[in-house]
Amino acid sequence: MRTQIGIVGAGPAGLVLSHLLHLSGIESVVLEARSRDYCEQRIRAGVLEQGTVDLLNETGVGERMRQQGLVHYGIELRFAGRGHRIDFKELTGGKGVTIYAQHEVIKDLINARLAAQGQILFEVEDVSVHGFDGPHPTIRFQEDGEQQELGCDFIAGCDGFHGVCRPAIDPATLTVYERDCPFAWLGILAEAPPSSQELIYAYHHRGFALLSMRSPQISRLYLQCNPEEDLEQWPDDRIWRELQTRLAAENDWKLIEGPVIQKGVTGMRSFVVEPMQSGKLFLAGDAAHIVPPTGAKGLNLAVADVRVLARALAEFYASGNMRLLNEYSEKCLRRVWKVQRFSWWMTSMLHRFQGANPFDERRQLAELDYVTSSRAAAQTLAENYVGLPME
Ligand code: APR
Ligand code: PHB
Repeated sequence: MRTQIGIVGAGPAGLVLSHLLHLSGIESVVLEARSRDYCEQRIRAGVLEQGTVDLLNETGVGERMRQQGLVHYGIELRFAGRGHRIDFKELTGGKGVTIYAQHEVIKDLINARLAAQGQILFEVEDVSVHGFDGPHPTIRFQEDGEQQELGCDFIAGCDGFHGVCRPAIDPATLTVYERDCPFAWLGILAEAPPSSQELIYAYHHRGFALLSMRSPQISRLYLQCNPEEDLEQWPDDRIWRELQTRLAAENDWKLIEGPVIQKGVTGMRSFVVEPMQSGKLFLAGDAAHIVPPTGAKGLNLAVADVRVLARALAEFYASGNMRLLNEYSEKCLRRVWKVQRFSWWMTSMLHRFQGANPFDERRQLAELDYVTSSRAAAQTLAENYVGLPME
C-alpha cells in the first residue's frame, strides 16, 4: 500500500487532518485501532472554540453542528453562593463557543471522509511506524489478521496520549514537561434539562463542580474527586447531593435532577513533549500534549495543531518548500504553552488542593473576585476561553 500522508488515529486530530489534506488535494490513509462505532460513541468534552467552529463551517462539515450545537456567549463563575457572568460577546468583540459533543464532530468528519472516498481503516492491530528519520517512512499493521505495510511521504502521529507514535521517537531527542493534578473529575450524563442556559464553573470548599450540557434535554455535570475515586462509592443520589451542595446559589436556583445515563472518572494532567516532530513524523493533538479539562481545550488544541500541519504539507506539495514543515513544532508549541497556562490557571483558581490552608482559600476567592469585578481580568479569561487567534 502507498499514500502521501499516513495518519495514525481517527480522533479529532487525525480526522480533521485527513479532511484538510483532502481539500488541498493531498491523499491520506487513516489507521484506527478501534471500531467506527467505538470512535463515534466515545464521550468526551464538548466545547468548540470560535476558531474550531469557523474551520468546521468553512470546510463544509459544520451542518449538524449548526443545527444541533448550542452557541454560548458567556459562562458563569459561581462562588460564595453567588453567580457572576463572564460576557464573551462584550469582552471579545462578538466571539463565543459552541457546545457540541466531540463524538458528534467525529461522526461528521467520518461521514465527510467516507463520502469523499477517503480511506479510514478501522480496527487495525499492531500498528508501528518506521523509517521516519529517512526518506521512506512506513507504517506496519495487521488488518483482518493480514500483515500490511503502508509506504508514505510523511506520518502524522494523531494516536493520542497512549499511542505508539511518540514512543517510536528516540527519547534522547525529546523533552517531556508534565504535572499530574492531585484530583480528577467524576462526570455524569443525565436525562435532565440543563438548569442553566450557560455553563457554570463553581468553586466550593468541598471541591469544584461544573454544570454543562449536551442538548436541551441532556445535562453534563462534573465534580472534583480523588484521582483513585471508586465509582462504586458514588451512587446517583450521592452524586446529585454533592452537586446540589457545590452548585448551590443564594437565590432559589435549583439543580434539576434526572436519570444518570453515563458516569466515569477522568484523570487530570498537564503534559507537553518537545519537539512535536522527528524527521518525517509529526505529532498532533493528545499524542503531543494533554491539558486539564477545565479550560475545555483538548479538542481545540488538536484542531489547531493539524491546521498548522495541513498548511505546511500543502506548501511542501505545492512548492517543495520544507520551511513550514521544519517550523511546525515551534509554531504549534507557542499556542500549546499559552493553552497550558490558561488551563492550569483555570484549574488552580477553581479547585481545592489537598493540604490547602485558609490562606490558599482566601487567595482563590480573591482571584475569583478580581476576575469577576475587573474588566481587564475578565477579558483575559474570555479571550482565552473562546480561543486565541490562530496564527
Ligand atoms: N493504532 C491506531 N490507532 C490508535 C492507536 C494505535 N496504536 N493508539 C490510539 N489510537 C487511536 C485511538 O483509538 C483514538 O481514536 O487514536 C485516536 C486518538 O484520538 P484522541 O485520543 O481523541 O486524540 P486527538 O485526536 O489528539 O484528540 C484530542 O480527544 O480524547 C480527546 O480529550 C481529548 O479532547 C481531546 C481530543
Ligand atoms: C463538557 O461539556 O464536557 C465540558 C465543558 C467545559 C469544560 C470541560 C468539559 O471545561
